[in-house]
Amino acid sequence: MGTLCFLSIFTAMILTSQAQYLLPITKDEPTKQFYTTLEIGNYVKSPLYLLLDLGTNLTWLSCHKLQYLESLHTVACDSVSCEAIPGNGCNKNSCLYQQPKPLSSQNVTGRVVQDGASFSTTEGGNFLSQATLRIFTFSCAGDNDLQGLAPPVAGVLSLSPGSSSFTKQVTSEFDVIPKLALCLPSYGTGRFYVAGVYYIIPPFDNSTNPIPKTSTPMVIDSRGYQIIVMSMYVDGTPLTILGQVATRLSTVVPYTVLQTDIYNALAQSFTLKAEEMGISKVTSFAPFKDCFDARNVAGKNMTGPNVPEIEFGLPGNTGEVKWGFYGANTVVKVSEMVMCLAFYDGGQNPEDWIVIGTHQLQDYLLEFDFSTSTFSFSDSLLLHDTTCSTRPS
Ligand SMILES: *[C@@H]1O[C@H](CO)[C@@H](O)[C@H](O)[C@H]1NC(C)=O
Ligand SMILES: *[C@@H]1O[C@H](CO)[C@@H](O)[C@H](O)[C@H]1NC(C)=O
Ligand SMILES: *[C@@H]1O[C@H](CO)[C@@H](O)[C@H](O)[C@H]1NC(C)=O
Ligand SMILES: *[C@@H]1O[C@H](CO)[C@@H](O)[C@H](O)[C@H]1NC(C)=O
Repeated sequence: MGTLCFLSIFTAMILTSQAQYLLPITKDEPTKQFYTTLEIGNYVKSPLYLLLDLGTNLTWLSCHKLQYLESLHTVACDSVSCEAIPGNGCNKNSCLYQQPKPLSSQNVTGRVVQDGASFSTTEGGNFLSQATLRIFTFSCAGDNDLQGLAPPVAGVLSLSPGSSSFTKQVTSEFDVIPKLALCLPSYGTGRFYVAGVYYIIPPFDNSTNPIPKTSTPMVIDSRGYQIIVMSMYVDGTPLTILGQVATRLSTVVPYTVLQTDIYNALAQSFTLKAEEMGISKVTSFAPFKDCFDARNVAGKNMTGPNVPEIEFGLPGNTGEVKWGFYGANTVVKVSEMVMCLAFYDGGQNPEDWIVIGTHQLQDYLLEFDFSTSTFSFSDSLLLHDTTCSTRPS
């Protein structure tokens, strides 16, 4: 009896430390915004769609979208919860937080509040049950702060490296490994893991056929996550770009933005290689600068149209590792006849010289591991005849 008891406690402990949480990711096609679902409230739960943002420190939402406010309460300025938020403010003893609004030059200021938050959890890719944070800290912004966000979206979910992010609140409350992983879908529903231990995306499984992953150091700064890009290649030929470039990762920027000199080097090399493949240049199609005759492309497969491959060279454990991007992630079709290089020219002196956006990130499994300060990316799932989507839209 005593032994059995001991065993079951032991098993429960192992399960707890191995728990992982899987939330859905939906792509809003017109805006190219990616959002997840969270239920706010302890008694009556309001399901809300929240934009995923790696740069937002504290989740904010329009509290008018909540059906029931009984379990919502404000946070006092002198409370531990308020003091734990870097950069907090105060108004009449109500904790405030001001932070940049994604995709805009404005700030969002909100009253810091707490309520319950529930979300799905999974084992082996199957939705299992709901997990609940009884006390989730976020802020209440106004309806007008939702301007520019996709219509169903009611706010922004914080995935930043800061201690007040949604991810950090989950991993510290449940005492699980501080990790998050994203599999942004090109259509339908993708996957957002908190504390992911194993990722089962058929044909990949948990034992004999795990997802191939490559790691590089994850650099954290006050605005989110960066990796170092040391070089770029087009069909294996290196571009001459200067030194190591701190490169931001973004779940809100739709197309990778490159500083002008880097953009030009990439576009020139891509054009040259494309022309060698018989793909001719056509007039540009704003906002893209370099466009091609899509009718010249010799076939396509799961990885998209057959165009030159682009690779980023990154520091790895024992030297340079490469992150390869194929047609589905490097070009975008703007009409029946025209496809364009799916990168933006960010100007001569942008705040970040490279920001990798979602057109490039989708259909890769991306893992941010705080326990080892590494960022890992899978092969393009398309190379393996699979995608991030769990079901069609
Ligand atoms: C936004 O907030 C920051 C502090 O978080 C402040 O320094 C900046 O001036 C604000 N910008 C605007 C446009 O209000
Ligand atoms: C996956 O593998 C881990 C570690 O080997 C194991 O603990 C876990 O039970 C496995 N889960 C499934 C669903 O196969
Ligand atoms: C976000 O949090 C980081 C610490 O993780 C801090 O350096 C930064 O100033 C915060 N940003 C704002 C707008 O408060
Ligand atoms: C698909 O095309 C890319 C080049 O565009 C190539 O690297 C890849 O091997 C091809 N995959 C298959 C399954 O043919």
